[in-house]
Amino acid sequence: MGKFVVKDSFYNKAKKEGFRARSAYKLKEIQDKYRLIKKDDTVLDLGCSPGSFLQVISSIVGEQGIVFGIDILPTPKLASKNIITREADINKTDIRTVLSDLSLAAFDVATCDIAPNLSGIRDVDNANIENLAGAVLKTVREGLKPGGSFIIKSFFTDTLKGITEELQKAFQKVSVYKPTASRSVSSEVYLICTGKK
Ligand SMILES: C[S@@+](CC[C@H](N)C(=O)[O-])C[C@H]1O[C@@H](n2cnc3c(N)ncnc32)[C@H](O)[C@@H]1O
Repeated sequence: MGKFVVKDSFYNKAKKEGFRARSAYKLKEIQDKYRLIKKDDTVLDLGCSPGSFLQVISSIVGEQGIVFGIDILPTPKLASKNIITREADINKTDIRTVLSDLSLAAFDVATCDIAPNLSGIRDVDNANIENLAGAVLKTVREGLKPGGSFIIKSFFTDTLKGITEELQKAFQKVSVYKPTASRSVSSEVYLICTGKK
């Protein structure tokens, strides 16, 4: 019962406050705790559709900042001028081309809320999670500035340890955080990575 109350309250709050998804509150909580995104930052958002992370990030970075979102699905247009989106598969995206298109050297911060389609077959799902994490990590290694921060959704499965270890090779610090806006029945957690090497 309690779990559904949490779902309903964040769902209703998102509708009322004009956010496209309840995920907005997960990112807001992470931002309140870690303060990783700053005014004027350039931010890369992987798996951005329908766009609630984009909405939150856009308001933090302000008019001089940029948030660039990528999703395999279309992202319905958002009005803010500092939001740019591209429909693309992260496995097939060369982030250096994106940076060059934006005339940027590197992003200050990256977020990744991608969830692979889960089949319920453990080995298949774990392989999908790991493959996707590989593509995402490559993107972040190539696209994030030294010292930059990265927030990535992961899952409490057999894959978490391996993914955390890979992130630890690329970042000075990796912490695990479960926002209260994340359903307690969900195995999702966020890995908060700071100090890109
Ligand atoms: C939980 S949703 C993201 C919600 C978003 N953070 C928001 O606040 O609106 C996960 C997204 O990951 C996207 N996704 C899954 N696989 C992807 C891939 N290979 N490349 C790009 N996006 C992908 C899905 O299309 C989906 O829109």
